[in-house]
Amino acid sequence: MAYEVRGVVARSKGAPVTIETILVPDPGPGEAVVDIAACGVCHTDLHYREGGINDDYPFLLGHEAAGTVAAVGEGVTNVAVGDYVVLNWRAVCGQCRACLKGEPKYCFDTHNAAQKMTLADGTELSPALGIGAFAEKTLVHSGQCTKVDPAAPPASAGLLGCGVMAGVGAAINTGAVQRGESVAVFGCGGVGDAAIAGAKLAGATTIIAVDLSDTKLEWAKKFGATHTVNSSETDAVEAIKGVTGGFGVDVAIDAVGHPKVFEQAFYARDLAGRVVMVGVPTPDMEITLPAIEIFGRGGAIKSSWYGDCLPSRDFPMLVDLYLQGRFDLDAFVSETIGLDDVEAAFEKMHKGEVLRSVVVL
Ligand SMILES: NC(=O)c1ccc[n+]([C@@H]2O[C@H](COP(=O)([O-])OP(=O)(O)OC[C@H]3O[C@@H](n4cnc5c(N)ncnc54)[C@H](O)[C@@H]3O)[C@@H](O)[C@H]2O)c1
Ligand SMILES: [Zn+2]
Ligand SMILES: [Zn+2]
Repeated sequence: MAYEVRGVVARSKGAPVTIETILVPDPGPGEAVVDIAACGVCHTDLHYREGGINDDYPFLLGHEAAGTVAAVGEGVTNVAVGDYVVLNWRAVCGQCRACLKGEPKYCFDTHNAAQKMTLADGTELSPALGIGAFAEKTLVHSGQCTKVDPAAPPASAGLLGCGVMAGVGAAINTGAVQRGESVAVFGCGGVGDAAIAGAKLAGATTIIAVDLSDTKLEWAKKFGATHTVNSSETDAVEAIKGVTGGFGVDVAIDAVGHPKVFEQAFYARDLAGRVVMVGVPTPDMEITLPAIEIFGRGGAIKSSWYGDCLPSRDFPMLVDLYLQGRFDLDAFVSETIGLDDVEAAFEKMHKGEVLRSVVVL
């Protein structure tokens, strides 16, 4: 018998989200139903609403969530009813060519629930990033559930499920920031500030935050930024060269996902430095760069899907660092809200008033 719960749905391109009754099926083989305790509002949810990801409306939004396993299907062994979990969108298959090469972070066949959640009239929903957690319950593949220490409160721990992991991982996994290196992070939202926190954890000694908003730059300092640049007033590339002896940074991270920002990151890096794109561009965006500059500067240009994380390895590690007081997950939570407030939260995010609004159920 399906569960009947409330969820936040984007019905058509650009239209405000609505609260709908969602039917969540009992878990089938390999699946789990999770009682959602908290779910953060990520810019990617807004990308979905705006048609920036694909056109598979209606979307059940929400994907940065923590909760408790309510039911499991046949054959599920990694979690049991009552387990406290953070949901992930990288349940690796173990069998594709990336997994077999020992690179499961690039898994080409990650698992999602096989069954569909639906609206009351039977219309199938597309859950954001295969999760759909702005709902009282959601259906996922059991591999999408990562058990963590229940001492970490859900509003904070849930953020590891997407934006915070993406940002931290962009610095420590994709960018492979080393002790003593210099790092510039463009865009100081939840993802960018997590990249700053990650760079600090990795031992970077110069961490330059770049944003258009002075408020965001102030917040970035709390996460470890040693310098700030407001790129609406100052040439970011020149400013970054100015604090790195004229050379540029070892690692430049684009946490906006805009060609202009990528270009700044590209030119703000030292010779043989790394550029990491973790912000998500829309399908219409294009980047034009002189080929000789790509060749001549050496180094690496990498994109960072989900911070190249492995949830089973990285979520418990970051929760442990949080519980030890070495990684301030709580600082990402600007406000806690209800399911009805997601549209207003998009507005606040758009205006740059929050780092993360977190729906608490
Ligand atoms: N790669 C991944 O796996 C992954 C995961 C989660 C989110 N994301 C993406 O990361 C990006 C950031 O997400 P977020 O939740 O932090 O968003 P956000 O809206 O909270 O933050 C974006 C920040 O960028 C700043 N900004 C905008 N334009 C700028 C510019 N031209 N120069 C400098 N700063 C600028 C804004 O002021 C804001 O502080 C989004 O594109 C999101 O979709 C990627
Ligand atoms: Zn795989
Ligand atoms: Zn996200």
